[in-house]
Amino acid sequence: MLKNKAETKRMNRGIKFGILFVAIAFASACGVRFDMQDQPRYKAYKKSDFFADGRASRDLPAGTVPRGMLKENKAFYTGKVDNPDPNATAQSTIDASGNTVMTTFPNMIDEFPVPVTKELVDRGQERYNIYCIVCHGPVGAGDGMIVRRGFVKPPTFHADRLRNAPVGHFFDVMTNGFGRMNSYAAMLTPADRWAVVAYIRALQVSQDPANLNMKANTATNTAAPQPAANANANSNTAGGAR
Ligand code: HEC
Repeated sequence: MLKNKAETKRMNRGIKFGILFVAIAFASACGVRFDMQDQPRYKAYKKSDFFADGRASRDLPAGTVPRGMLKENKAFYTGKVDNPDPNATAQSTIDASGNTVMTTFPNMIDEFPVPVTKELVDRGQERYNIYCIVCHGPVGAGDGMIVRRGFVKPPTFHADRLRNAPVGHFFDVMTNGFGRMNSYAAMLTPADRWAVVAYIRALQVSQDPANLNMKANTATNTAAPQPAANANANSNTAGGAR
């Protein structure tokens, strides 16, 4: 059957649209798309011609701080003042037993950077009785159990030198170690170190009750510490996770 020209043209157009439709349907069914995942990029540790050192992996820009790791509060994290005097040097001598006797404490803060509460002192007592008591003794006289069995004797906390030492010094001793004593930074968080400092202040008052006019910022208004024998009774009452 012969068809006229116009009819043939209409049929051809129909076929063309049909093919186009099938092609589009096929393409979208196969997921042919161009997204960010297809952009040019380097894989970790791959070579690069773009950078002079040939490494695609770049160093972090100077001063980059991981989220949550910004330690802005210098007093809290170091026990030191914000603008230290670079010329001030700590004076110290070595005594007959080999201990370092520090007599000046430059650039150390002398105010607790946290509120001194009963909870803080209790937490400090608990931590002290775990980490310090074996050498420094139950009240800080330097007569802990392993010292009684021959370990080097640390200085007592009840001499004027350490009574008057700024709180930052005690924090620093725990953070960085001191002379023959190890650092306790791995065992005690900064918050726990301040708790231990507060407890040491309480111990100092407990051994010198007549002298309550110790530095005003110390833990003088906290309850007198209990004897070490009772120390375990109230453990885990304060402070939460380390
Ligand atoms: C293994 C024994 C030992 C333990 C545990 C220990 N210390 Fe010491 N500590 C010493 C010795 C020894 C010295 C003296 C170091 C020196 O002068 O060379 C000392 C010195 C100190 C001083 C005096 C610094 C000065 O200026 O004279 C402080 C404060 C102190 N320790 C705090 C602590 C605290 C707080 C803890 C617990 C977190 C602790 N120590 C745990 C052995 C110990």
